[in-house]
Amino acid sequence: MAESMKGLKRSHRCTEVSLANAGQEVTVMGWVQKSRNKGGIIFVDLRDRSGILQVIFEDGEISREGFEKAEKLRSEFVIAVVGRVEARQGAVNSNLKTGDIEIRAKELRILAESETPPFHIEEDSKTKEELRLKYRYLDLRRPDLQRNIMMRSQVAAIARSFLTEEGFLEIETPMLTKSTPEGARDYLVPSRVHPGTFYALPQSPQLFKQLLMVSGYDRYFQLAKCFRDEDLRADRQPEFTQIDMELSFVDVDDVIDVNERLLAKVFKEVLGVEVQLPIPRMTWQEAMDRFGSDKPDTRFGMELKNVTDVVKDCGFGVFTSAIEKGGSVRGINAKGQGAMPRKKIDALTAFVKDYGAKGLAYIAILEDGTVKSSFAKFMTEAQMSALIAAMDGENGDLLLFAADVDKVVYDALGALRVELARQLGLLSKDQFNFLWVTEFPLLEWSEEQGRYTAMHHPFTMPMEEDLQYIDSEPGRVRAKAYDIVLNGTELGGGSVRIHQNDIQEKMFEVLGFTKEDAYERFGFLLNAFKYGVPPHAGLAYGLDRLIMLMTGEDSIRDVIAFPKVKDASCLLTDAPNFVDDKQLEELYIEVTKPETSSEAE
Ligand code: AMO
Ligand code: AMP
Repeated sequence: MAESMKGLKRSHRCTEVSLANAGQEVTVMGWVQKSRNKGGIIFVDLRDRSGILQVIFEDGEISREGFEKAEKLRSEFVIAVVGRVEARQGAVNSNLKTGDIEIRAKELRILAESETPPFHIEEDSKTKEELRLKYRYLDLRRPDLQRNIMMRSQVAAIARSFLTEEGFLEIETPMLTKSTPEGARDYLVPSRVHPGTFYALPQSPQLFKQLLMVSGYDRYFQLAKCFRDEDLRADRQPEFTQIDMELSFVDVDDVIDVNERLLAKVFKEVLGVEVQLPIPRMTWQEAMDRFGSDKPDTRFGMELKNVTDVVKDCGFGVFTSAIEKGGSVRGINAKGQGAMPRKKIDALTAFVKDYGAKGLAYIAILEDGTVKSSFAKFMTEAQMSALIAAMDGENGDLLLFAADVDKVVYDALGALRVELARQLGLLSKDQFNFLWVTEFPLLEWSEEQGRYTAMHHPFTMPMEEDLQYIDSEPGRVRAKAYDIVLNGTELGGGSVRIHQNDIQEKMFEVLGFTKEDAYERFGFLLNAFKYGVPPHAGLAYGLDRLIMLMTGEDSIRDVIAFPKVKDASCLLTDAPNFVDDKQLEELYIEVTKPETSSEAE
């Protein structure tokens, strides 16, 4: 019984109506949040993306026919109401923006009925995420998700206008393209016209934005879709959006400057938060030493301390053998946690084992000064005192230690520090601690591949003063690469690019590419560089992550309209799915389906 809206025109969104409109007639349209029939009077909460407005249908004020229609209203019906704005007669509802008014209806049209939805459309839904994602179009009606999606649009608009004002051009780059070197697996698209060949969806616009610099566009940006076939986590999706940019004739400080102003503008306009500029900078090495992480959360302390020198001659084999193998012993001081029950310490030990640690040694100092420790029996009293002093241990503190190669110690304690902060409620979502992490290592050793790989990507410029080590100690060379970190999340990253041929060739050599390999993969870029390439640098933010942190959500799924789940499938559309044999034939593709193929079910 859907009626037409012919002759009606919406005059306001629900919360655009206010006491200032009292006495006026308005036309509002939206969804029925809920309807309560109190005999001769029906109260309806009308919802649209702006919020909720109370509508009153009273027998006599509206025609008999209109009142009977109002009696049929159920949740999620779509209606149009013409009525008079009045100051609320009952108690003012201070939870609602429109809590001091109501609309006294004079005309009602039911524009669409609705089946009973599989879950209630409400803020902070407790409904399981699988069900919500299957009915994402309903989930997206919830006020919290609507706020997130609207904030995302607002941030995108501010970024666009800011970058345009700063002289950046918005230029699109292709989706059907060739593999980009961002280190993840590619999503491939088969070509029908060229049997047996595939496009790769871009992992980022990296190579194209560098080409645009060669072409003289000087400053480029794009809100770019990127595709990466990697294991998904709360802050990773197989397709995501970058605010991507590249600038010519610039160095590190220029990129940082324009981006600090961009971030400050976004946070000020959207959240009313003042970002203190300049944003602090920290080298990668300092970040690792103090926080065990290249994306330190600086909202709380509990920094790592290196106690290798203090324990190197002690009697505890776990410590000394790690040191003998070239590793280190480091600890964190969980202030005031000395009374933590053994069970909880065991749980933390299990936690660090996920990060490769073999164990977690501890010293618990009770309030009365008694010391309990998993390794005191291997130490002299003097050694214990020295260790406690080195950790600034006081009565009531819990000291936790890991001994291993540096990478494992950093990973384990870096993660432990954040986990403890989470348990202790130290992670305030209203605090926004930005940090630039700079001077990343250029290369990292891959045990798996038995060679160095680029930590950022192979076009990242080494620091001039470290170029001398590129042959003798490649691992020592630092890069002109920087990440922007917010509250322990890597929000974005970028680098100054190599624009000199000899350095680029050297880089490929260190990475174990032959010249042929390099040309096979990136020939179009390397050739372009032969025709006058300006010095250039750039950066890309994960827009989804930025919005996740701004909205205080724990997952980027809550800031993406149609996200995928952990196994990279879409519960709404059932993608990915099997295709017709005919389609495969056209693409010259034969599928060898795994034995557990769901088609066999
Ligand atoms: P990078 O690979 O560091 O750099 O990516 C930049 C930012 O994109 C976000 N991001 C992701 N967000 C959601 N899901 C994912 N799977 C995902 N992967 C990355 C992160 C990250 O910081 N071309 C370079 C940038 C440059 O050098 O200019 C690049 O893509 O927030
Ligand atoms: P064990 O000698 O294996 O019983 O270990 C004694 C204590 O040292 C326990 O608390 C272990 O969790 C801890 N431990 C073991 N290996 C390490 C390590 N590599 N780093 C830090 N602590 C460890």
